[in-house]
Amino acid sequence: MSNRFVSTPARGRVAVLIPGLGAVATTFIAGVALSRLGLGRPIGSLTQLGTARVGRRTDGRTVPIKELVPLASMDDLVFGAWDIVSENAWQVALRSDVLPRAQLDPIRDQLEQIQPRRGIYDPEFVRRIEVDHAMPEQGHRARIARVRQDIREFIVELGADRAVMITCASTETWRPAPDCLQDLAALEQALDANHPDISPALLYAYAAIREGVPYANSTPNAAADTPALLQLAREQGVPTAGKDLKTGQTMMKTVLAPMLKARMLGLNGWFSTNILGNRDGEVLDDPQAFKAKEVTKTSVLDTILQPGEYPDLYSKFSHKVSIHYYPPRGDQKEGWDNIDLFGWMGMPMQIKVNFLCRDSILAAPLVLDLVLFLDLAKRAEWRGVQEWLSFYFKLPTTPVGLYPEHDLFIQLTKLKNTLRVLAGEEPITHLGLDYYGDDLPLPEALEAAEER
Ligand SMILES: NC(=O)c1ccc[n+]([C@@H]2O[C@H](COP(=O)([O-])OP(=O)(O)OC[C@H]3O[C@@H](n4cnc5c(N)ncnc54)[C@H](O)[C@@H]3O)[C@@H](O)[C@H]2O)c1
Repeated sequence: MSNRFVSTPARGRVAVLIPGLGAVATTFIAGVALSRLGLGRPIGSLTQLGTARVGRRTDGRTVPIKELVPLASMDDLVFGAWDIVSENAWQVALRSDVLPRAQLDPIRDQLEQIQPRRGIYDPEFVRRIEVDHAMPEQGHRARIARVRQDIREFIVELGADRAVMITCASTETWRPAPDCLQDLAALEQALDANHPDISPALLYAYAAIREGVPYANSTPNAAADTPALLQLAREQGVPTAGKDLKTGQTMMKTVLAPMLKARMLGLNGWFSTNILGNRDGEVLDDPQAFKAKEVTKTSVLDTILQPGEYPDLYSKFSHKVSIHYYPPRGDQKEGWDNIDLFGWMGMPMQIKVNFLCRDSILAAPLVLDLVLFLDLAKRAEWRGVQEWLSFYFKLPTTPVGLYPEHDLFIQLTKLKNTLRVLAGEEPITHLGLDYYGDDLPLPEALEAAEER
């Protein structure tokens, strides 16, 4: 299918290029392979299962999202990866123990063929990993050149027409953003000078954008969300999205906090803690790596609740977030939230949430959607940060100076309306004027609505 906004059809293969072949990446790849064989269903994926209403309610037209806009098919995805550990996708999937071995057995050959290329290793940014597969290149420019060369080789080897990069590498240790990330010229100089605060995550993103490859960031690491790379992406005509996938506890937060605000209920405190036993949990056990997560996890409530607008309700709440590495649980995270709220006449109440989830099971469908939507955005010739993909992220990247939208359902409305517009359909405002006589001018239609 093609339409007036997306002139290039979704023909040919798309290389999905992934720095970080860990639990999330292999669960995503295995799920795509199993879905193709009819041995599993891509549950959790909006591109595969979601629909959108188009036209008026009275028209009765609801179409699958993958028919509304010309998305690539799961059958056309091929995979390449980089890692600083040499295990292939089969070994990682078995070790990560997310999908059971019996389910993985039929796709063993496919997974074994996915052998990562050597990754960019900087011990200042990633700890607690036994590294045996670091690229030999030293210095920022040489490493960028290596990744750019790898991208070109992947595209040829995988027989792909185009590519999307989505980073799923470990969370890096946090440090304050250096000034050189504030604009592109300063970044270029800092790359020449091997500035020590430039992390591997940023080098992968820079390489992808320079190659014209759309880029998404599943992690909290600083990369295409920085002003310098936002500028580069616009100049290069590359769509980007990030950052840090919104899966377990933060997803719950962005559903419950808007409810409190919608009902004008106050908040005294929100205490969130969870236990996690996978390698991500082990890396996050390092306080400097957790700091990066903490930043993406805690910013959500302030932005949703707007304490400046509602000081009586939200100016004094305390917000605590912690993650504990607890090996017996593996990928099966358990999160607890205690929410202290208050209502009419200041009377206190509590909400308790106990979410027993599976981290990579929630993340994998988001990776799939992001790949397909970014490929679509590239074919629509959209450039820079794609805010309509905020739906997928804990800390959605915005153009410089704007604040992110965190409310899950506003994000979904924005995403679907973007797809409608891309498909040449009207966005849906939910005013419902069609019912009251859509040929009336707006004030009269509203009056007619009131009279009913
Ligand atoms: N699972 C979720 O629900 C979820 C949600 C949001 C964000 N994330 C983020 O996604 C990322 C991946 O999570 P995971 O559970 O797959 O972790 P994981 O530890 O299983 O996988 C990370 C992989 O990245 C590799 N790696 C580290 N540094 C690298 C580098 N510089 N270059 C190439 N490879 C590198 C590691 O060796 C490892 O194989 C983490 O940053 C995590 O915080 C996960």
